[in-house]
Amino acid sequence: MSLTGRRILVTGCGGGIGQAVSRVLHERGAQLILSDLELHGAAVANACKARYLSLDVTQEHAWRTVAATVREEFGALDGLVNVAGVILMQPLIETTLAEYRRIQTVNHESVFLGIKATAALLEESGLEHGAAIVNFSSIYGLGGQPGFSAYCAAKGAVRLLTKAAAVEFASKGQRIRVNSVHPGPIDTPLARLPIEQLVRQGKVASLESGLNRIASGYPGGRIGQPEDVAGVVAFLLSDDSRFLNGVEIPVDYGFTARAQ
Ligand SMILES: NC(=O)c1ccc[n+]([C@@H]2O[C@H](COP(=O)([O-])OP(=O)(O)OC[C@H]3O[C@@H](n4cnc5c(N)ncnc54)[C@H](O)[C@@H]3O)[C@@H](O)[C@H]2O)c1
Repeated sequence: MSLTGRRILVTGCGGGIGQAVSRVLHERGAQLILSDLELHGAAVANACKARYLSLDVTQEHAWRTVAATVREEFGALDGLVNVAGVILMQPLIETTLAEYRRIQTVNHESVFLGIKATAALLEESGLEHGAAIVNFSSIYGLGGQPGFSAYCAAKGAVRLLTKAAAVEFASKGQRIRVNSVHPGPIDTPLARLPIEQLVRQGKVASLESGLNRIASGYPGGRIGQPEDVAGVVAFLLSDDSRFLNGVEIPVDYGFTARAQ
């Protein structure tokens, strides 16, 4: 599963999963272009000997600037990993339209913008088996979860945007595979946020007990670690997955496979 020399752009590289993805891709020899808000991921880029570009994934002009810089400095792209995301735990009827839209914009529209801005660079990859895009959805993009309607809607949209892009590129003979990953709870700041909210509301005793409660509900009996997801992303970017296209991969140790 070598990624030697592959030019791969990662968004949200400063977060829990983004850091692990960046580290694993770097270990496998990729030439990384890492991005996040302002300087949030700059230290990660430094550790991975990567080019760092500040990118707010909700801004189309920012994507254009990043694409132009990549073209100038790297010529083309072999991979794009859309990691950046935000969560909201709030009952549907208490969610304002502005909040709902923010969740769609960061989690879902960003993927549309990213694919659009980089498609030409990916098409020019020059790799024998073509380039690859990996989009971050969630198990909450596969089914509903009380209190997470806006997030579920956004991640569900990422799932189908992935499939639509995959078949559209393939039907036009454009060699860009597009697949999505659907993690279960992974121990990162994003996953801790709703638990911290419940602790503040007095509904859960502590962060630790909240994490334990989630873990005990999972077949593997533990919460995932960012590295559990990063290896799957590396696989989807590699030639080992060259005939996978439009596929959704739950990374949840069988949670979504269980009979309800
Ligand atoms: N942690 C989980 O349990 C879990 C489960 C399923 C899916 N996911 C998804 O995995 C991805 C990574 O999540 P994480 O757990 O590492 O979260 P995280 O909060 O640790 O990291 C998210 C990163 O996205 C960046 N980001 C936020 N808004 C941005 C914007 N507008 N432009 C650019 N960057 C922006 C943040 O700065 C941060 O570095 C997200 O898409 C998330 O929805 C996470």
